[in-house]
Amino acid sequence: MMLKNDLLLRAARGEKTERIPVWLMRQAGRILPEYRAVRASLSGFKELVETPERAAEVTLQPVDILGVDAAIIFSDILVVSEGMGLPYEMEEKKGPYFPKTIDQVQDIDRLRTGKAEDFHYTLDAIRITRKELNGRVPLIGFAGAPFTLLCYMVEGGGSKTFSKSKKLLFTEPEAAGKLLQKITDTTIAYLRGQVEAGADLLQVFDSWAGILSPQAYEKFSIPFLRQICEAFPDVPVTLFAKGAFYARKSLAALPCQVIGTDWNMPPEESRLLVGEKTLQGNLDPCVLYGSAKFITEETHAMIRAFGAQRYIANLGHGVYPDTDPMKVRHFVETVQQFDISTLQNR
Ligand code: CP3
Repeated sequence: MMLKNDLLLRAARGEKTERIPVWLMRQAGRILPEYRAVRASLSGFKELVETPERAAEVTLQPVDILGVDAAIIFSDILVVSEGMGLPYEMEEKKGPYFPKTIDQVQDIDRLRTGKAEDFHYTLDAIRITRKELNGRVPLIGFAGAPFTLLCYMVEGGGSKTFSKSKKLLFTEPEAAGKLLQKITDTTIAYLRGQVEAGADLLQVFDSWAGILSPQAYEKFSIPFLRQICEAFPDVPVTLFAKGAFYARKSLAALPCQVIGTDWNMPPEESRLLVGEKTLQGNLDPCVLYGSAKFITEETHAMIRAFGAQRYIANLGHGVYPDTDPMKVRHFVETVQQFDISTLQNR
């Protein structure tokens, strides 16, 4: 199907764009009353993820309401661990937790390698969304990075220190490698399913990358991200490693197209580190609590620092649930109305 708005894909491939594409991580979610209404009509988050028609509906909401240049399929990174035999629960206001976790090396052997069919609900949601989008904007598929999933499977939820996960990495590196490989194999099968169902671009979220040292990241994340990138030579892949300012150069050396950046990573420095690759990011989500004037100024400063080409505007992490959707719209419109001919570095 021909895309009417393919700015995101052209920017990802490093092709020239007449304006900067923009979308927001977590755009499908609690900021929209329309999302909360759909979720309230079901038993909760999980049922929404597993009901393709409703997941497609909330995927489309930000395209219609916020005017963003991409849709991201509504699901969660934790479906992958569930497909491997470690189900998650989503507790209202508290976040995810795992009733069962990886506590010993034998638990890793008991996990299965998931297949694309294990995630049929998300793949169906992608098919429905594709149809309903009718080429308006590209559709982003996603998964968590193997390292970030390992953290959830070992900790059973979020953590301050992630010491349980790091203990496994540092004291049982072989077992940790086995677990990371199983997650990687499942993730590749899942992402392949997403591409076959109609995802145009893939983003991999390494949300806990910032807790590792550069050396540990080279050992426990980079090789698995490499396998994921190499599995998709024909689809643009974005790697977003939150907090891993130290790893931008090694991430950019992988066969991916886009490097996601957070607000700790100065755009000019990122540009030097990643060379020709496309950059995405990186406004602090808290800027959207400010006045329209403040948002405009901060967004313009961000664009001037990144330059207009090989750039996808976004926040530096997911939008916070208590953000006013009108402020989000203002951010989106500020990027879309920015006249790139005024830039030196266009
Ligand atoms: O709009 C989109 O970005 C698409 C949907 C999406 C969700 N989760 C839906 C969701 C995406 C891309 C994710 C990714 C995800 N999930 C990540 C990586 C990105 C990041 O934030 O670093 C992580 C770490 C998770 C795990 C997760 N899911 C947590 C920690 C939480 C609780 C925190 C929170 O934001 O509430 C979730 C729940 C979740 N995933 C919600 C949504 C819309 C909120 C649940 C609700 O509706 O109450």
